[in-house]
Amino acid sequence: PFPWYRACLSQGTVLRDETSQSWDVFGYEEAQFVLKNHAHFSSQRTVDGQNVLGNYAPSILNLDPPRHTQLRRLINLAFTPKAIASFQPRIETITHNLLDAMKQETQGKSTEVDLVAALAYPLPVIVIAEMLGVPPEDRDKFKRWSDLLVEGPSDLRPETIMDLMTRRAAGRKELDEYFRNIVQLHRGKDDGTLISALISAQIENESLSLEELLSFCVLLLAAGNETTTNLIVNAWRCLLEHPEAFAMLRENPGLIDGVIEETLRYYSPVQATSRIVTEDIEVGGQKFSKGDRAVVWLGAANRDSRIFENPDTFIPTRSPNHHMAFGHGIHFCLGAPLAKLEAKIAILAMLSQIDEVSAVPTDLTPIISGFVYGVKSFPIQVTW
Ligand code: HEM
Repeated sequence: PFPWYRACLSQGTVLRDETSQSWDVFGYEEAQFVLKNHAHFSSQRTVDGQNVLGNYAPSILNLDPPRHTQLRRLINLAFTPKAIASFQPRIETITHNLLDAMKQETQGKSTEVDLVAALAYPLPVIVIAEMLGVPPEDRDKFKRWSDLLVEGPSDLRPETIMDLMTRRAAGRKELDEYFRNIVQLHRGKDDGTLISALISAQIENESLSLEELLSFCVLLLAAGNETTTNLIVNAWRCLLEHPEAFAMLRENPGLIDGVIEETLRYYSPVQATSRIVTEDIEVGGQKFSKGDRAVVWLGAANRDSRIFENPDTFIPTRSPNHHMAFGHGIHFCLGAPLAKLEAKIAILAMLSQIDEVSAVPTDLTPIISGFVYGVKSFPIQVTW
């Protein structure tokens, strides 16, 4: 998408897309304006899960204030920086187990491994599963549901899309039933899981309803897994495409935070989000009308040369680096600290264990999606 952003940004910060009857917002200031201004730009894009099987409670991602504010405050009670930090030792253990499995498979020699399948994909799924109190024996089932939520169509034929929608609806129903049980098991227990903290979170006698809890659990899988996988893989792609940055990090692992922030800017795992205009308003000199859809291209804003010097260059020491990879305003990513912690642990653990690593020259298959930026597999050659 990057050459396209460059071409669009040279024409203007906001452009009309006649084919999809929507506005494309590319400029950094304009993107912030839209995301900050939630009264004019609604997140109630669709009613969550309204499909053949009936309705589900909308998740916070698709709600506006005042309901969004109330739910997010309740969720924040459970999803605290302290709760995330307390998970660090578990993330480290899970990472080391995955690396050990990777090594066993390659018998300690130099071999090719797929970074996605071996580490970047399983790590976030296992972390979320544990946080939600899913027992290890249910993990495979849980993985399948999680995949189904974000699976893109293999092609764009109507029957392929219909088939995917039907499978997804069935998966969502199973997942809902499964989570109902999990909630039952953890209700009234303060067992340190995120799910028990969510159940007991209370403000002024209000807590999350069962339907809201279920929608939130589903949102965690949909919003947290593939995005984190892509952050880990995109960071390795950045490092292997920029040997000087890789050498710097090897020399000084303290640069890891900068590497992750710059990856988020340069290869943003989420390239775009959207809003619906609630009242006529002007953005970047263009007149948006009530009911219009606005697509906010975070990946383009992150390469706006009015904010970032040499925007198309990967500079891990870039400072300041106020990218918008996690959004902006009231819907700012709830999982940002967790995603960064997982990426940091995954990259440093690999760095400390490998002698040599390089990308296997091959054409990478991008994930089919207008909003997610990542590849389906990333073969690397590793010497342990
Ligand atoms: C919201 C990106 C990882 C949970 C968002 C938004 C973005 C984003 C751009 C805002 C969407 C909007 O305004 O429409 C990312 C990226 C990730 C990541 C790039 C990884 C690198 C995670 C993880 C979790 C998570 C690990 C949870 C475990 C959420 C939730 C929201 C959200 C719950 C909705 C917040 C709200 O509506 O108030 N994320 N995310 N994300 N993210 Fe993430």
